[in-house]
Amino acid sequence: QAELPEGYKLRALRSEDYEHGFLDCLRVLTTVGDISRQEFDERYQWLAKQDGTYFILVIEDTNLNPPRIVGTGALIVERKFIHGLGKVGHIEDIAVAKDQQGKKLGLRIIQALDFIAKETGCYKTILDCSEHNEGFYVKCGFKRAGLEMAHYH
Ligand code: ACO
Repeated sequence: QAELPEGYKLRALRSEDYEHGFLDCLRVLTTVGDISRQEFDERYQWLAKQDGTYFILVIEDTNLNPPRIVGTGALIVERKFIHGLGKVGHIEDIAVAKDQQGKKLGLRIIQALDFIAKETGCYKTILDCSEHNEGFYVKCGFKRAGLEMAHYH
């Protein structure tokens, strides 16, 4: 397992991370939109109720006051009928703040999510990414498998 820099903490998302740059961190990945405190909390509470299904991790830089969220990633545990009621881990929404990239934070997030997937009984962990990020996921131990299809609404 890769080490985190001094003062960096990897932990589950908390409601107060709204104030500490969680959404800005996600903006590195894609459009987030204007999400109010209340809207954020409603989604956060809903996710928290889906016991054992959504795991959202963050890396926080506690050297700063207030601390700042510098990385995030999510694992969704899918329950299937096939493979004897098998479970599959889906990795989603990996983002590391621009000025924090290249410090192995992304690697650490993927390792932690994959560990949770294994612990919750997932027989595999899968994800979709662009060609541009393939090398990163290869370094994280993943390999190309299948082809993504999408139908946008
Ligand atoms: N291509 C090839 N290798 C890469 C890439 C890349 N795009 N990015 C990182 N690596 C390598 C690093 O050089 C490092 O290699 P090393 O061990 O030989 O030194 C290794 O992968 C681990 O890199 P980290 O330092 O852990 O990567 P970082 O913390 O910068 O995070 C990430 C990588 C998450 C892709 C980051 O650049 C980012 O947030 N990008 C913008 C958002 C994004 O594209 N997210 C992924 C979307 S896919 C999804 O969410 C499922």
